[in-house]
Amino acid sequence: MTDTTATRTLERTWLDATLPVEERIDLLMAQMTLAEKVGQTHQVANIDPDADADEIAAGRISSSLYASGPTGGNERDEGVLVGNIDAAQRHAVEGSRLGIPLLFGRDVIHGHRTVCPIPLGIAASFDPDVAEEIGEIAAREAVVDGVAWTFAPMVDISEEPRWGRVAESLGETPVLSGRLAAGLVRGFQGDDPSEPERLAACAKHFAGYGLSAGGRDYDTVSVGENTLRNLHLRPFKWAVDAGVTTVMAAFNDVDGTPMHAHEHLLRDVLRGEWGFDGMVVADWNGIGQLVNAGVAADLREAAVLAIRAGVDLDMCGGAYLAHLEELVESGEVELALVDDAVRRVLRLKFRLGLFERPYAAQPGAPNAPTPETREVALRSGQAAHVLVKNDGVLPLDASAGSSGSAGSAGSVLLSGAFVDDGDALLGTWVLDGRGEEVVTPGAALRERLGDRLTVADGRFSDVTLMQARAAETSVLLLGEHRSRSGEAQSVVDIGLPPGQIEVLRAVAALGKPLVAVVYTGRPLDLSEVLDLADAVLVVWHPGSEAGNALASVLLGEVEPHGRLPMTFPLSTGHIPTSTHQRPTGRLIRADVDHKEGRYIDALTYPRLPFGFGLSYTSVEYGAPVVSSSTLPVGGSVTLTVTVTNTGDRPCREVVQLYFRDPVAEVTRPLVELTDWALVDLEPGQAREVTFDVDAEQTAYAGRDLTTRVDEGEIVLLTGPDAARLQSVSIQVRNDS
Ligand code: BGC
Repeated sequence: MTDTTATRTLERTWLDATLPVEERIDLLMAQMTLAEKVGQTHQVANIDPDADADEIAAGRISSSLYASGPTGGNERDEGVLVGNIDAAQRHAVEGSRLGIPLLFGRDVIHGHRTVCPIPLGIAASFDPDVAEEIGEIAAREAVVDGVAWTFAPMVDISEEPRWGRVAESLGETPVLSGRLAAGLVRGFQGDDPSEPERLAACAKHFAGYGLSAGGRDYDTVSVGENTLRNLHLRPFKWAVDAGVTTVMAAFNDVDGTPMHAHEHLLRDVLRGEWGFDGMVVADWNGIGQLVNAGVAADLREAAVLAIRAGVDLDMCGGAYLAHLEELVESGEVELALVDDAVRRVLRLKFRLGLFERPYAAQPGAPNAPTPETREVALRSGQAAHVLVKNDGVLPLDASAGSSGSAGSAGSVLLSGAFVDDGDALLGTWVLDGRGEEVVTPGAALRERLGDRLTVADGRFSDVTLMQARAAETSVLLLGEHRSRSGEAQSVVDIGLPPGQIEVLRAVAALGKPLVAVVYTGRPLDLSEVLDLADAVLVVWHPGSEAGNALASVLLGEVEPHGRLPMTFPLSTGHIPTSTHQRPTGRLIRADVDHKEGRYIDALTYPRLPFGFGLSYTSVEYGAPVVSSSTLPVGGSVTLTVTVTNTGDRPCREVVQLYFRDPVAEVTRPLVELTDWALVDLEPGQAREVTFDVDAEQTAYAGRDLTTRVDEGEIVLLTGPDAARLQSVSIQVRNDS
């Protein structure tokens, strides 16, 4: 090292924020020892400013997972270090040779202190603006705790309700998932993730995780690259195009190659074809788990596989820290591979502005829910409510018998699960939201209905039944506690949790109006609920404003307008079912289903189709009309459909556009969602809804895996859900 270089090091020339990021990385990397480079690939869980002080100052830690809270404490809250992350940062910035700041990551998935619906509920809104708002308030609250990076959005496509992680997903279709993911990325990152109230986002888990065999979490995945490209990779591409700064590798293998060792998908596709220049993070000890998967003899070999594949940051596995230096020195790993990983880690740190603002921007500032953030939680919670049955009992009449007591006209019994259990309704992956800050269904309905409401405790008892008999209407809360879905929370049976169906049967047997409200992180088998209840609302886990969202929908203060982002199968045995099923040599025909179906003991259609949801009015769809029957490649046609509100209440209709490619090089979905529009209609109002359709929307990966657009017929279909569609055909022509 020359004197000049030493002086430059001292000067920390890379701190000049007017220089382009790549130049700053060059300047910094020119000063880094191999050990310091390897340090930048290492993430620890729960960094401790005291215990880890020496390691941080030695430049051996790049990032921390979970630790949160800039000042105070060092307290441990359920094993997670809270407070004092600025103290850890000080060791890095002021105590280490190069002063490279630490990167603090945390799972901020559907809210931070203010909790919005679980991602599957966000997907039910079909509204990317809702997703963006949620990302925005979550980021604003999280930066107060010093968090700079969140591990969201999850964009794993799954047709598997047994898999607990569908709760974290944005539904089963690539376009819905992709657009909502882009909305969340915009919300978290803004135009520039270095803005003080933004976070880096992370598209996860790349790729194929939703196909875990049997819905068992972390299981193996058998899938061909054509299906990956036509389905599972697409939302990731959407997130990358939206500027997501990081991608997380998935725990699973893909046809025998674990994703943490998948050079082809991580290097050729993600970086090569898509031009992703962000950082790839391992999932929790995903590199170490290559040993368990039986593709590496030990941690050292695992490190070789992962760095070659393109995993840049080792989440809590320690493989890189323990072995990369020696692997480079022995020539088994090229320095260029480590340099590439370090460059990507540093690029993220520069992009986040951490070199300029390493410490929490507003230490100690309040980040508890405010009226403004609660408003976002309320609106997104309402948008997640999917009305799947209504025999006229909803909306409840808010005015009737308002001065009466239980037993009088208009009296309501609220019973079942989670009536006053706020924590249960927060949903999976909530590290910072607090159960006591949730407005429960009991609280919200008490406030609105006063003494018209009787609240029974959640247990099934004779008293509950007596109360149900006395009330005019029963609102029965059913479904899953939040801890029953999410990571490592798979089930073998998607029926209601034990005991609930008995309560439903007993209350239904009273013959009084019965509204069933279903909290869930997954599609459930709702067959009996749909048979027995007069109205059914699927509301997922709505978060901080759960009760207000429910009460406002039940009482008709707002119109329900959510739609199912996943197909609800007839039973567990019917899994997998999805809207994008591909045709086979023997088509299933609805009219003769029992003969030509796939089972001898059951029909094969879904219980509730993808995209399904009712409102408190009725809507009629006209036939779709196209501006031209020919669609040139590179051009577009306009499709128009008239929707009419034929009832006496306003509504927000989710007008859906699907397509089918009847003759293609590979089997293509029977219908695939390609676009939709949210349309507000007053009673009696008719509106023409137009969609621009590009030939590129019909593109797919062919037999040679390259993207192609076929000439010939494309069927366009519009309607209120995937099962009620009217079609029109166009011809795609390549005139060039
Ligand atoms: C999960 C990731 C998560 C990570 C960090 C892993 O077990 O698969 O989705 O971001 O833990 O909490």
